[in-house]
Amino acid sequence: MRFVNSYETKIKKLVQEKSLTYSIDTMGCQMNENDSSKYMGILESMGFRKTTSDKANLILFNTCCVRENAENTLFGRLGFLKKRKLNEENVYIVVVGCMTQQRHILEKIKESYKFVDIVLGTGSMSLFPEKLYNVLFSNKKEIEYIEAGNEIEEDIPIIYEDKYKASVSIIYGCNNFCSYCIVPYVRGRERSRRPEDILKDIEKLAKNGYKEIMLLGQNVNSYGNDFKDRYTFPDLLKDIEKIDGIEIIRFMSPHPKDFKDDLIEVIRNSKKIARQIHLPLQSGSTKILKEMNRKYTKEEYLTLAKKLKAADPEISLSTDIIVGFPGESEKDFEDTLDVVSQIKFDQIYMFIYSKREGTKAAKMEDFITNSQKVERLERLKRLYENELPLLNKKMIGRCYKVLVEGKSKNNDEFYTGRTSQNKVVIFKADEKRIGKIVNVKIDSEHLWYLKGTIEE
Ligand code: 5AD
Ligand code: SF4
Repeated sequence: MRFVNSYETKIKKLVQEKSLTYSIDTMGCQMNENDSSKYMGILESMGFRKTTSDKANLILFNTCCVRENAENTLFGRLGFLKKRKLNEENVYIVVVGCMTQQRHILEKIKESYKFVDIVLGTGSMSLFPEKLYNVLFSNKKEIEYIEAGNEIEEDIPIIYEDKYKASVSIIYGCNNFCSYCIVPYVRGRERSRRPEDILKDIEKLAKNGYKEIMLLGQNVNSYGNDFKDRYTFPDLLKDIEKIDGIEIIRFMSPHPKDFKDDLIEVIRNSKKIARQIHLPLQSGSTKILKEMNRKYTKEEYLTLAKKLKAADPEISLSTDIIVGFPGESEKDFEDTLDVVSQIKFDQIYMFIYSKREGTKAAKMEDFITNSQKVERLERLKRLYENELPLLNKKMIGRCYKVLVEGKSKNNDEFYTGRTSQNKVVIFKADEKRIGKIVNVKIDSEHLWYLKGTIEE
């Protein structure tokens, strides 16, 4: 489906007359960040100007429901806006994203947050202009439940805040139904964008000076499974490799069960694919992995990780781990610690299991107390933080290519960028280097970042 905004002219006129501004509050993952860039594109094409002030006229919340705490955050922030909405003119509140696909959330908004103007689900961005038009011109509320969109919406305008790196969605939805995960219920079934559309977007980005591309999908290596012409994720990577100007290709997330040898081969032969692979482990226990419906064992995961490192020893691995899944025994958790100490991940995103109504795991008996879960998370964190300096130290004295992203936020004297392994490095440079790829020799490690010097 091609995005056409037939309300653009009418809305733009009103927005410009009133000088309306907007702000976007994004929760959750990179897919949501990417969707927010599209909402920015749509809003700016209709004349809205972005503001960081809390006085924005249109406040858009792009929500996440992967873990429970996000709900409290949303309702806290909405509650905070109530006074403004009731006392001021030209204030519009929009809630979009994953949480809106859950009926109980919609009921709660209708019941207790009646001042919200628009609720819009995932994959339904094309409906946004019409809904906004109704709100702006007829004061109508637009908060009906809409099924998660199962089509691909192409040609939505998009605005990136970064100038040199951009994310590009390649596949939407998920068919995996990991037993803990709400995503397949709120993002619909897998659907891959046609390669022509993806390549056209990336070529345009390259022409505009972008150097780094992050390919996004809930499960990127399912890409193309829904095509008749057998064009696969490795095929896509090979085609992106040919685009002049793009120097770094990243992707997330692949599913270990679908990580086949042809993909490893493409990574090994590529000069552009980053030497960092995000490989979500979730648990190191074969028993728990089965309960999670992950479709691989501890041993299969270890074999895959070793294959990747063997393909190129420069490859670093990052992962997601959930602790405290229902039925996780001490022995199961020790299996997770065992995988972590064998693989030595450069980055671990750690989560305490959060029960999501509607998922299979929500029906499983959960005997683990909250303090046990917190204690496991702490143990995992300790192990990781003990290992990280050793990995970092191996980089000292070596040179790495780094895309200079800008000034370091914490240290005025320094600029910042990341190595191919996704390690943050700070170094002395000047404005002219921003957006360029430089060689940096690593001098010291500081747990979450490295310090280096540019080598000419
Ligand atoms: N509880 C805790 N973590 C979860 N994730 C997904 N669902 C849940 C849940 N119910 C984590 C997984 C996934 C990451 C994006 O979020 O680790 O890879
Ligand atoms: Fe959720 Fe599993 Fe799909 Fe990832 S692969 S989005 S964890 S169901």
